[in-house]
Amino acid sequence: MSKPLDAEHALTLSPAIPVVTIERASQAPPLARALLAGGVRTMEITLRTPAALDAIRAVAQEAPDMVVGAGTVLNRRDLDAVVEAGARYALSPGGTPKLMKAAREAPIPFVPGVATASEIMRGLDLGYTCFKFFPAEPLGGAAALKALAGPLPVARFCPTGAITLEKAPSYLALSNVLCVGGGWIAPADRIEASDWPAIEAAARAVIALR
Ligand code: 3PG
Repeated sequence: MSKPLDAEHALTLSPAIPVVTIERASQAPPLARALLAGGVRTMEITLRTPAALDAIRAVAQEAPDMVVGAGTVLNRRDLDAVVEAGARYALSPGGTPKLMKAAREAPIPFVPGVATASEIMRGLDLGYTCFKFFPAEPLGGAAALKALAGPLPVARFCPTGAITLEKAPSYLALSNVLCVGGGWIAPADRIEASDWPAIEAAARAVIALR
């Protein structure tokens, strides 16, 4: 069993975390290897398809250098399932008090989603300092995160939602942003087409953001 991560470590493995939706679990290990070949060491597999848990399991077993995170973890049952499948950390688009309390006891770090100052304050009260800021662009993008740094300087963010390679630098320049996340690095059509060279190239562009 690999050493447990903390949330900040997980969110600083790559300047951008590929957020992926997998239709067939067999696509996950070659996808992970393409990202690794491009230098990206972590990915978020979202629980949005029936294949997601098997995809997490396949990456954990067949591409062990990839630090696989689980996204769209909405409740305690999801959290237990992704831990069992081998996810190294978990994220959520939001955070219910029930899930955030349960996740404090989990063996992997959990990154709750937030959209407002009040939600961040509730997370801070429960001991969280790392948050997903979702959906980042509709919420005001980098300008919104910059404004939150004044009153809430302890909070650190992984913004996701309509971010692109071109928009990433404005987020990464902020003191309270650890990384961004996004679907652009490994979009569903490229995964479906097994276009691993294009995904490797997109991963290289991500690493060049550093
Ligand atoms: C997420 O779950 O983080 C988002 O769906 C990713 O957003 P994007 O696909 O707009 O990049």
